[in-house]
Amino acid sequence: MGTLLEYALIQVFHNFGALLVVGLSGYGFQVALRHQTPRTLALFVMLAWLAQGLTGATFGWVTYRSDHRLPDIHGIALGALMIKISCVCGGVGLMAAFLRWGTSWSASRRMAIWTGSTVLACLALTAAAFLRWFS
Ligand code: HEM
Repeated sequence: MGTLLEYALIQVFHNFGALLVVGLSGYGFQVALRHQTPRTLALFVMLAWLAQGLTGATFGWVTYRSDHRLPDIHGIALGALMIKISCVCGGVGLMAAFLRWGTSWSASRRMAIWTGSTVLACLALTAAAFLRWFS
C-alpha cells in the first residue's frame, strides 16, 4: 500500500509536469508569434522540464528501494524511456540557451526554440504511452 501510494503521488506530479511542459511550450510559441517571449516563461519551462526528469527518476528510485533492483524494461519500453530522457535533456538545453543568448537572437530563431520545446514535449508524451504499455 505504502509503495503504491508513493507511485500514485509521484505520478500526480509527473502528470502535471507533463501538462506544464506541453502547455507552457505551446503558450511560449503563441506569445513568440506576436511579441518577445518573457525570460520568466523560459525559466518556468526549464524548471518544468527538470521536474519531469526528477519525478521520472523518482519512479525508478522507489522501485529500487522496495525491490533492490531497477525496473526490468527492455525493447520498445527501454527505447521509449531513452526518448523521454533525451527530450528532457533537449528541453532543458533549449531553455538554457534561450535564457543565456535569447535576447540577441532573431525572432525566427526564438520561434525555433519554442517550436523545438513543444515538439519535444509532444514526443515525450507519445513515448510515455509506449513506456506504459510495453513495460
Ligand atoms: C527523465 C525523463 C522521464 C522519465 C525517467 C520518466 C519516467 C516515467 C515512468 C517510470 C512512468 C511510469 C510508467 C508506467 O506506468 O509503467 C512515467 C509515466 C508517464 N510519463 Fe514520464 N518520464 C520522463 C519524462 C516524461 C516527460 C518529459 C513527459 C511528458 C512531457 C512524461 C509523461 C508521462 C506520462 C503522461 C506518464 C503516464 C503514462 C500512463 O500511465 O499512461 N514523462 N514516466
